[in-house]
Amino acid sequence: MAQAKVKADVPIEALLKEKRKFPPSKAFVKSAVMNRKTIYAEAQRNYVKFWEQRARELHWFKPWKKALEWRPPYAKWFVGGKLNVSYNCLDRHVEGPRKTRAALIWEGEPGDSRVLTYWDLYREVNRFAAALKRHGVRKGDRVTIYMPMVPELPIAMLACTRIGAAHSVIFGGFSPEAVRERIHDAESTLVITADGGYRRGGTVPLKKNTDEALRGAPGVKTVIVLKRTGEPVEMQSGRDIWWDDFVKDAGARCPAEPMDSEDLLYLLYTSGSTGKPKGIIHTTGGYLTGVTATHKWIFDLHDDDVYWCTADIGWVTGHSYIVYGPLANGATTVMYEGTPDYPDKDRFWRIVEKYGVTICYTAPTAIRTFMKWGEEYPKRCDLSSLRLLGSVGEPINPEAWVWYWKVIGGGRCPVVDTWWQTETGHILITPLPGLTTLKPGSATLPFPGVDAEVLDEKGNPAKSGYLVLRKPWPGMLRGIWGDPDRFVKQYWSKYDNIYFTGDGAKRDEDGYFWLLGRVDDVMNVSGHRVSTMEVESALVDHKSVAEAAVIGKMHDIKGQAIAAFVTVKSGVDGSPQLMDELKGHVAKKIGALARPDDIIFSAELPKTRSGKIMRRLLRDIAEGRALGDTTTLADPAVVASLKSKYEEQEA
Ligand code: WTA
Repeated sequence: MAQAKVKADVPIEALLKEKRKFPPSKAFVKSAVMNRKTIYAEAQRNYVKFWEQRARELHWFKPWKKALEWRPPYAKWFVGGKLNVSYNCLDRHVEGPRKTRAALIWEGEPGDSRVLTYWDLYREVNRFAAALKRHGVRKGDRVTIYMPMVPELPIAMLACTRIGAAHSVIFGGFSPEAVRERIHDAESTLVITADGGYRRGGTVPLKKNTDEALRGAPGVKTVIVLKRTGEPVEMQSGRDIWWDDFVKDAGARCPAEPMDSEDLLYLLYTSGSTGKPKGIIHTTGGYLTGVTATHKWIFDLHDDDVYWCTADIGWVTGHSYIVYGPLANGATTVMYEGTPDYPDKDRFWRIVEKYGVTICYTAPTAIRTFMKWGEEYPKRCDLSSLRLLGSVGEPINPEAWVWYWKVIGGGRCPVVDTWWQTETGHILITPLPGLTTLKPGSATLPFPGVDAEVLDEKGNPAKSGYLVLRKPWPGMLRGIWGDPDRFVKQYWSKYDNIYFTGDGAKRDEDGYFWLLGRVDDVMNVSGHRVSTMEVESALVDHKSVAEAAVIGKMHDIKGQAIAAFVTVKSGVDGSPQLMDELKGHVAKKIGALARPDDIIFSAELPKTRSGKIMRRLLRDIAEGRALGDTTTLADPAVVASLKSKYEEQEA
């Protein structure tokens, strides 16, 4: 993995040709939450002090003794401090004027809607937390949550944090096998799910998937099932219980457990460069400090804002910027259950209009989809409430950036392109909209107090190379659940005491960062991380497959699409039926997000003399480029024949 070179084919020159710059308007600067030019220098002088100031904006039961203990690769923030995340997101708001403010504005895909004030949310969370506690869930236990995008999802998360249990939220698009693997790894004994959720006019059978997942997970003793779609489900007696029955007669109040700053807050599984997903560990005080401060400054959060992040809570973006950041800041956060094209392709803009959304945070893949659908959909709606736009998940091409700015933002809203990862917990490279001159396609500069750099292979600062982080930051991952060796190997072994992100980047003459995508074997498909190895193991798990090599090829909408080169076992016919079967097999093993777009059957795969598959050449083939250096191949004929076969198939 560490050998991989920054992809030479990314057209940075094309990116840098977009010379337009967008300085913040005077009016915006004037009322911006953060408009102090000196803030970067201040934070640089003493980054620990800088983060301490941010942490002081939270409620602590007990102050910390030491702000940072840094024994690479392990950092401890706010050592000795005690706090509770749910207390910070709820209690301190209901004690003040925010009590009746809308905390959560939720819209279901069928068009149903709920608004929960801070008081409503407080009540619901207390009750569910009391019920969990009564059921015997304890501090430190891991609770798996596999739910649709409904208010009970953040309620369940906040209830866990209230009693000190850690949640492991699994995206509703994952397959039963993927769910099983994650339950098993986290050793959860309790799962929270729903009968189903609505998606693109249909339903997702979450309970059925859970049943299937649990067939191999005898450790799970309790399944709490929320009724959402009302479709019939099987309830296993002694194990399954309806949400409403579970909370019935539970206490109305459940005190928030004072947690140590470094106590486990949650696990979130993400793909790495091996087949096995990693449970990223986040802890309490540093994480909450990081998400709260970044959310407030980057989205320029004011009291009258209606903030909407379109991500799914199953991903880190939803954890940090639908739930924890916004609620800790006492904001109004919008949550939508379904897809952007149901019942029509204007759904997002209808939501903006209906709730008067002022800040919208979405992904480049969505923006490119909207571009393809055409301007008529946003034009149907009144988007004049919007005042700030955000982007996350993958590099945003300047064309999409400018379209977003012009068509959605009406040319008046700054666009903040925010770079970060599941591992980083919160945004690290980003504009501050009241300070930063924007350049379309660039995530601009590190957040104050963040020490990002681009290094070459030898570890020297370079114009182009690997993106690294040289100093610890409060929301950083504290490890990989159950696998400390992998933690060290993955992030801390390329350079001494420096965090390696796995991303390539360039810097321009102003020091701005331009992200170039992953340099390891992780694909980014519609903003979702999928490991090539994970898809390969799903493929070779099929009885007809002998060998498989998977790559991400450039795709106009998705960023990357999955292409799989497959060698079938002898006697098997590489037929179109088998192609479909294999695509379905991968979707079944991992989830629909990992379904390959292309399957190319090949008698052999291009390998080096030492047997390593040369993915770079496969990418050249799939993207229709002239083949790069083939001199290290064991048999150059393999790749030539594969190329002509691929071209034939595409034609
Ligand atoms: C990519 C999502 C360019 C990057 C928050 C990173 C980005 C991976 C950006 C993390 C951005 C995220 N510009 N690339 N603004 N944001 N990425 O863990 O490759 O799902 O390493 O976290 O997404 O994906 P993850």
